[in-house]
Amino acid sequence: MSMRIKKMFLLQLVLAAIEVLLVSSQTVDITREGCQDKCGNVSIPYPFGTRGGCYHDEDFLITCNSTSYNPPKPFLRKGNIEVTNISIDGKLNIMQYIARDCYDSSGFRIKKNSASTRLSKFIISNTDNKFIAVGCDTYAGIQGFQGKIMKYTGGCISTCDSIDYVANDSCSVIGCCQTSIAKGVSHFDVFLHSYQNHTDVWSFNPCSFAFIVEESKFNFSRAMLMDLKDVTVLPAVLDWSIGNENCKQVEGKMIAGSACQGNSTCVDVENGSGYRCKCKDGYQGNPYLSNGCQDIDECEDPKLSNCAQKCVNTEGNHYCSCRKGYHGNGIAGEEGCIANRTLVVQITVGIAVGLISLLTCCSWLYLGYRRWKLMKLKERFFRQNGGLMLQQQLSERQGGATNQTAKIFTAEELEKATNNYHETRIVGKGGYGTVYKGILSDGRVVAIKKSKLVDQSQIEQFINEVLVLSQINHRNVVKLLGCCFETEVPRLVYEFVTNGTLFDYIHNKSKASNFAWETRLRIAAEAAGVLSYLHSAASVPIIHRDVKSTNILLDETLTAKVSDFGASRLVPLDQTELSTMVQGTLGYLDPEYFQTSQLTDKSDVYSFGVVLVELLTGKKALSFDRQEEDRNLAMYFLSALKENRLVQVVDECVLNGANDKQLKEVSNLAKRCLKVKGEERPTMMEVASELEGLRRMAMHHPWVNNDESNAQENESLLGEISLETFSHGGGGDTSSGYDTMRNHIILPVNDGR
Ligand SMILES: *[C@@H]1O[C@H](CO)[C@@H](O)[C@H](O)[C@H]1NC(C)=O
Ligand SMILES: *[C@@H]1O[C@H](CO)[C@@H](O)[C@H](O)[C@H]1NC(C)=O
Ligand SMILES: *[C@@H]1O[C@H](CO)[C@@H](O)[C@H](O)[C@H]1NC(C)=O
Ligand SMILES: *[C@@H]1O[C@H](CO)[C@@H](O)[C@H](O)[C@H]1NC(C)=O
Ligand SMILES: *[C@@H]1O[C@H](CO)[C@@H](O)[C@H](O)[C@H]1NC(C)=O
Ligand SMILES: *[C@@H]1O[C@H](CO)[C@@H](O)[C@H](O)[C@H]1NC(C)=O
Ligand SMILES: *[C@@H]1O[C@H](CO)[C@@H](O)[C@H](O)[C@H]1NC(C)=O
Ligand SMILES: *[C@@H]1O[C@H](CO)[C@@H](O)[C@H](O)[C@H]1NC(C)=O
Repeated sequence: MSMRIKKMFLLQLVLAAIEVLLVSSQTVDITREGCQDKCGNVSIPYPFGTRGGCYHDEDFLITCNSTSYNPPKPFLRKGNIEVTNISIDGKLNIMQYIARDCYDSSGFRIKKNSASTRLSKFIISNTDNKFIAVGCDTYAGIQGFQGKIMKYTGGCISTCDSIDYVANDSCSVIGCCQTSIAKGVSHFDVFLHSYQNHTDVWSFNPCSFAFIVEESKFNFSRAMLMDLKDVTVLPAVLDWSIGNENCKQVEGKMIAGSACQGNSTCVDVENGSGYRCKCKDGYQGNPYLSNGCQDIDECEDPKLSNCAQKCVNTEGNHYCSCRKGYHGNGIAGEEGCIANRTLVVQITVGIAVGLISLLTCCSWLYLGYRRWKLMKLKERFFRQNGGLMLQQQLSERQGGATNQTAKIFTAEELEKATNNYHETRIVGKGGYGTVYKGILSDGRVVAIKKSKLVDQSQIEQFINEVLVLSQINHRNVVKLLGCCFETEVPRLVYEFVTNGTLFDYIHNKSKASNFAWETRLRIAAEAAGVLSYLHSAASVPIIHRDVKSTNILLDETLTAKVSDFGASRLVPLDQTELSTMVQGTLGYLDPEYFQTSQLTDKSDVYSFGVVLVELLTGKKALSFDRQEEDRNLAMYFLSALKENRLVQVVDECVLNGANDKQLKEVSNLAKRCLKVKGEERPTMMEVASELEGLRRMAMHHPWVNNDESNAQENESLLGEISLETFSHGGGGDTSSGYDTMRNHIILPVNDGR
């Protein structure tokens, strides 16, 4: 415990020492080295001092009485004049005794003391002090001496009957009077008299008082008439100076010289003898000490320097300057420092460049953000449209040697190819969407199908169908080149087929007249071949679902290209029937499928039958121009056959006088295709074989027209051909019991094959 206390004590000691060091290092010396610079709390600057060698001469001796006072009190010389402050510029604050003359109630003097001050050298300041007398039965005077010679007498009289006449706040004759004091007085006596021995005013003023006092520290009040009797001293101010000679006399001396040290000047005193010293302008400190006058750092005090921008301190002075790029006198104010013109230009240019680069930066950021957003959107569409799923499927198939798989196009590629989906590029419009002609960057001409809006649930089927189509490689199928998922609605890219649809060729009068039977037969055979291929030869059976003349396209050599494998029809399976009807292909729709919703490959056979009838008759599948019972072409045709009116319904353009038999055969084939019961219809393979057979026969075996017997032969021939074909193709097992569409054309996307 004691160790700890000791340690703490030591620490405190060290701290105190450090503090003392710091304080002494901060304050400028005011006295000579080794001299007492303080008595009590009063500083004692040189030329004053408490002992020989510390003061300038005897006049400046300060006696510090520490035996009777705590804190110690300084006294002037060896006398009893207490010093309260010493200032280096010539003032000395002292405490001055009061003169008083007191009586008892009967007018008998009980106390009288005069106040005489004998100053050896210093003089009473006539500017800071006043002579004041307080009392209501008072006559006071002052006698001033310079040396031993009386210089002047002054005084004042104050009488009053009642305290009510006494002003409370000013010394104005009633109760209190004052006079100035003369210049250069170093000795004075104060005297007091009363007229009535205070007998009339004793109740409120038993004494008269007179004194010299520092004017700023004395405020008269009524209470003083009574209270001053308890006061012995009041503050007063002395003026001090050195010696009895003026500056000229002192500086003229060869040996001693003036007491003024470096960086200071000598100043004569006006109203006394001797001189004082003063630091030069720009210096401060004690001019009586060597190195007492220290340079003032004006730059640290803005009140002294007042510079606009830069302040430079010099020995005894300072100057203002301007920063680089400015000119002027540097003093605070509008004109002090003015920017150079070049700087103005530089700043302007700088700001402009800054602004421009900021703008550029901002617009870059904005554009970048837009691009990023677009990319994100594309990515979203790509995902939403099943692009990832397809990519995966395609990559899984990479192993299987598929010669042609669909390519995935970017949205930009297609936009560029179609000139931003320009109107002039539209080649077809329908319930499914719009078809544009596009030219890819490698020069290939393509058809781009922009589907109508789809919902998320249909994506899987869409992918499935794209995959199916990408598998088919048949010269009579419109080739799917690829697709694009980056748009909200997927886009499909097909090979471009130049000559429009079969529908056009049949129903456009000018084209139909040149549309020879042989060509029609060939196209029918080609289309049938495709459907047969889809039903049986493709790796997975595919039912087209929407066979019709508008879905059979023709290229430049009028070769059939079957299109629209439902690829663009992304409606869920259970809505397929509905959408098919809505899309206006009612005339081609298999009635059995329509009733039962059970789709089989025979539905395609029925639809193909309608196309055959269309080719034969040149009439539309559904026409409201015909009578009600004949509106459906299939019905119309079947009833005509029944009534043996075939020749009437066949298109004139196909009659060439040599093909009656052939027409009859095709009619019969169509009739069988149009059977109401699917089971009774031939398979697509049978149809294809028959048509191919008829075509070949027409080429090698010109038929004899108008020959009734030929009909028989024809039928038997047909039978033979059919049988042959069947044995070749093994078409017997084509009805393999597809119950719903789902079961055959939809690939099992998710079963991870
Ligand atoms: C000295 O101390 C006294 C009282 O402590 C105070 O009234 C007086 O003004 C002080 N004087 C100076 C010069 O600080
Ligand atoms: C200090 O003051 C007292 C009372 O005024 C006086 O008696 C004494 O002599 C003084 N001491 C010195 C050293 O001046
Ligand atoms: C003492 O004198 C100095 C210089 O005139 C002054 O700054 C200071 O306020 C004075 N102190 C008192 C207590 O009057
Ligand atoms: C006043 O007092 C003085 C001295 O005590 C005395 O000589 C004088 O007679 C008195 N005068 C009056 C009028 O009482
Ligand atoms: C006179 O002035 C003093 C101080 O200024 C105050 O305390 C006192 O009440 C005043 N007396 C009258 C009678 O106004
Ligand atoms: C005298 O009065 C003035 C204003 O009335 C005041 O500022 C000052 O402090 C007073 N002086 C004294 C010593 O009371
Ligand atoms: C004036 O004061 C400076 C320091 O403030 C000092 O270096 C220089 O010597 C002084 N001049 C004289 C003549 O003492
Ligand atoms: C002399 O008079 C002036 C103004 O009248 C005054 O400032 C100065 O303090 C007086 N005393 C001395 C010793 O100069």
